[in-house]
Amino acid sequence: MTLPVFLAPMEGLTNSIYRRAHARAFPGLAGYYSPFITPNSSKKLTTRELSDILPENNPGQALVPQILTSRAEDFLWCAGKLRSFGYEEVNLNLGCPSGTVVSKGRGAGFLARREELERFLDEIFSQAPCRVSIKTRVGLESAEEFPALLGLFRRYPLSRLIVHPRTRTQFYKGEPRRECFRAALEGSPFPVVYNGDLFCVKDVRAFGEEYPAAAGVMCGRGLIADPGLERRLAGEEPGRERYRAFIDEVLEGYLAVWRDKRAVVAHMKEVWCYMISLFPDSRRHAKAIRKANTVEDYRAAVEALFAEREVVPLDEWSFGRLGG
Ligand SMILES: Cc1cc2nc3c(=O)[nH]c(=O)nc-3n(C[C@H](O)[C@H](O)[C@H](O)COP(=O)(O)O)c2cc1C
Repeated sequence: MTLPVFLAPMEGLTNSIYRRAHARAFPGLAGYYSPFITPNSSKKLTTRELSDILPENNPGQALVPQILTSRAEDFLWCAGKLRSFGYEEVNLNLGCPSGTVVSKGRGAGFLARREELERFLDEIFSQAPCRVSIKTRVGLESAEEFPALLGLFRRYPLSRLIVHPRTRTQFYKGEPRRECFRAALEGSPFPVVYNGDLFCVKDVRAFGEEYPAAAGVMCGRGLIADPGLERRLAGEEPGRERYRAFIDEVLEGYLAVWRDKRAVVAHMKEVWCYMISLFPDSRRHAKAIRKANTVEDYRAAVEALFAEREVVPLDEWSFGRLGG
């Protein structure tokens, strides 16, 4: 049983340059969710936000832009703007665990302000210019908050509910509460997608067998670690060259738009923190990538890695768990 696979939004990692290279090298994902946009009363998207979601920068993807706010007016303005670009669905972020976001009552912080959240949902669902999906955690501090939240969500015509079944307090650690996902799946009038700790083919297959009624899985760290994960699920074995072409395209994409070459290298290193797990016995190469300060050093380190090591997916060797 193969479920549709979506790329999770990951701020700083899955921006348009990354997504574009991904969609070319590994087409097949059911959709891509953008990292969040934070609209405010200025009613202007930043240059960075705009360039990330402009349709011409996102070819070949079913892209859903994500919005982070607790003000209905700002959400509706932003959704209208995104609709004018042609987007038919926007996603509301109710999961971001970051301190500055939560303290303002946004992201996962909104989950604990249920009356305010209800007024917000009333307003956005009565006026939204397009479909609205929600990506949520199961509570701020405790999963016991989830049944009431679920009851609230079920009163609205969500196009999709994506559940990352951890509380804000857990951040990305600890076991996801799959029983919460099951509760969401059973009896919701909208499609429910699972997100959390699905890192390799085995994980996704086992999940699909246990939850065949899920509307899909959303993968974050697992897809950054193995951008070909969905292709493997579809029965392909993407070769080393494909990974090489992909990661080189990401690099070239950044070099074409960022003047600060050091920032480009720093960014590539972040991607490699995850992707290095595709290459067993690569400590030396990982160190060379980590130590690279110039584009030339970086290129040399990546060249050596691909020349000297094989691509072996996580299923087949014991890297350990990415989230651990
Ligand atoms: C660096 C980083 C950035 C993230 N940025 C976002 C974001 O912008 N919006 C969002 O909804 N979730 C964000 N997340 C959460 C992921 O979308 C996802 O829920 C989380 O990584 C768990 O899924 P996984 O176990 O498949 O990685 C981020 C996570 C990480 C680690």
